[in-house]
Amino acid sequence: MLKTRKPQAPGSRIFLPAAVIFFWRFIGILISSPYNSPLCVLTLCAMRSKLVVGNWKMHGSLAVNAELLQAVRDGAGGLRTEVVVCVPYPYLAQAWTLLEGGAVSWGAQDVSEHDQGAWTGEVSGAMLAEFGCRYVIVGHSERRSFFGDTDGVVAAKFLAARRAGLIPILCVGETLAEREAGMTGEVVSRQLDVVVQASGIEAFAAAVVAYEPVWAIGTGRTATPDQAQEVHALIRGRLCAENAVIGNGLRVLYGGSVKPANAAEIFARPDIDGGLIGGASLAAADFLAICAAT
Ligand code: PGA
Repeated sequence: MLKTRKPQAPGSRIFLPAAVIFFWRFIGILISSPYNSPLCVLTLCAMRSKLVVGNWKMHGSLAVNAELLQAVRDGAGGLRTEVVVCVPYPYLAQAWTLLEGGAVSWGAQDVSEHDQGAWTGEVSGAMLAEFGCRYVIVGHSERRSFFGDTDGVVAAKFLAARRAGLIPILCVGETLAEREAGMTGEVVSRQLDVVVQASGIEAFAAAVVAYEPVWAIGTGRTATPDQAQEVHALIRGRLCAENAVIGNGLRVLYGGSVKPANAAEIFARPDIDGGLIGGASLAAADFLAICAAT
C-alpha cells in the first residue's frame, strides 16, 4: 500500500526555515559588536548595581556620628544596595574605625586638585585614600556656587581623585533659572563634557555621576521621576556616544530632597541607579529606608 503524505498547511512549509533564519540573524545581531550589541548593552544595564551615598555636609559630632554610623552599619548588612557615607574630613578616622569590616564604605565631600604642597586648608586624594576612603564627591553645587569651583576646577578635582585611586562622584545639575530657561540639557552636557575632555572617557569606568538639580537640593522640592529620568538618559546617552560600554556601565545617581516617601518611585526609573542623599542621610532610619527602596 502506498503511503500518502499528509497534506501540509501552506504556511507550515516556510515556517521552519524562516524561524531558523530569524534565530541565526538574532544571534548575529546579539554578538555583532562587542561594544554596541544589544546583548552587551542589556548585560551592562543589568550589571549596574544600585548605590546610595549619604552626604552629611557640615553636620555631626563624635557622639552623634557614633550612633549614626553604628546604626547604618547594622542596618545595611542585609541590603543588596551598596551604601556609602561621605563625612566631614575630621570624622574620616571615626568612620574608618566604626565601619571597617562592614558593608558600608565611606568617603569625603571634596578633594584638592593638587597632590601636595603649600595649599593651606586643602586635603589631597592620597590623604583621603590613607584614611580608607573609597569615594569622594566632586563638583557638588554648594562647592560650585559658594566656593568658586568652576567646571575646570571640578575636572581637575575629578582627575586628582582618580590619580589617588578614589572613585569620584561627579555632581552635575542646573539652577532653577537655567531649567526655566530650557537650558537643563545644555548645562548638564557642558559640565560633563569638560570632565570628559580633561580625563578621557575611560576615567568614567571608575566613576559615578550624580544628577542634582540645584533647585531640588535641601528645598524639599524633588524633581519628578520623569524629569529626573529625562536628564539621566541624557547623561548616559552623552557618555555612551563616547563609549557605549562605559556609558551603559556607569552608575548615575539622583540627588535632591530624596526621602523615604519618594525614593522608590525615583529609583524605579531605568537610568537611575540610586541616590545622593543629604538631609535624610542624617537619620539612620530614613537613610536605611531609602537604601532599601532601591
Ligand atoms: P538633600 O541634599 O538630599 O538634602 O536635598 C542632596 C545633596 O546635596 O547631595
